[in-house]
Amino acid sequence: MQDISLTARFYYLYEHFIQTFVFAKHQSFSQGMELFNENDKLASVILKDHSLLPVINRLGIKLGFGDETISNICEEKGIDLNFFVEIINVFHYEAYFPEKRLLDFPVTIVIDYLIKTHQYYKDYLIPENDRLIELFLSASPEESSDNELVRKFYAKFKEEFVIHINFEEREMFPYILELNAVIEDPSLRDQFKTKYPSFSITSFEKEHSNMDDKMDDLKNIIIKYLPPNYDQNRGNAFLYNLFMFEKDLKNHSRIEDHILIPKVQQLEKLLVSHD
Ligand SMILES: [Fe+2]
Ligand SMILES: [Fe+2]
Repeated sequence: MQDISLTARFYYLYEHFIQTFVFAKHQSFSQGMELFNENDKLASVILKDHSLLPVINRLGIKLGFGDETISNICEEKGIDLNFFVEIINVFHYEAYFPEKRLLDFPVTIVIDYLIKTHQYYKDYLIPENDRLIELFLSASPEESSDNELVRKFYAKFKEEFVIHINFEEREMFPYILELNAVIEDPSLRDQFKTKYPSFSITSFEKEHSNMDDKMDDLKNIIIKYLPPNYDQNRGNAFLYNLFMFEKDLKNHSRIEDHILIPKVQQLEKLLVSHD
C-alpha cells in the first residue's frame, strides 16, 4: 500500500514538475512572442503584422475573410492548418523555428509553398524593385556615375537571384519530387537510380550566401555612399521594398536550409535502407 502511495506521489511530483516547467517555458516564450494559433481571427493577425499579407496570399488566401478564424478559413480552402500556423509564426518571429514540427510536413507541401514564394518574387517583388529603382535614379539624372554604380550592384544581385531560383526550380526541386515519388512507389526505383546514380542532395545544394552578400552590397552602397542631393522619398521607397524582399528571402532560405534539405536527407536514408 505504501509502495503504491509512494509511486503515486512520485508521479504526482513528476507530472507537477513537467507541467510547471513546460508551462513556464511556454509562458516565457509567449510573453515575448505572442504566437498565433488556429483560433485567432485572421483579420486581427494581419492587423498585428501586415508583412504577413504576401505570406497568406501564397498559402492560398485572399483578403475579404470577414471575422473568420484561421481554422475555419483553412478548412474552407482545403489548406493544411498546421502548416499555415507554423509558417505565419516562423515569418512573424525570427527566433521561432520549430524544426521538429516543420519536418513532419510532406515534402510536396513544402515545395509547393517554396515555388509559390519564387513566383511572388518573379511576378511582383523583382518587377516592383525594377520600377522603384528607376524612379529613384531618374530623379537625380545629374549623378550619372553614382546612378550607374547603384544599377551595377542591383544588376549583380538580380543576376545571382535568378541563377539561384532557376537552379532550384529546374534541378533541385524536380530531384526532390522524384525522390519522394520513389519512396511512395518503389517500382520507380530503377528508373530513378539510372537518372540520379549518386542520388544525394549534397550535389544539388547551393549556398544562399552569394545571394545574401549581393543584397548586402546593394543596401550598403545606397545607405552609406549616396550623395546628399539624391531624391530621399524615392530612395526610401526603393529601400523599403528591398528590406521587405530581404526579410522574405531570409525566411525562404531558412525553410530550404533547415526543413527542405534535412527532409530530403531523411528520404535518401529511407531509400538506402530499402535496398
Ligand atoms: Fe528558393
Ligand atoms: Fe534557395
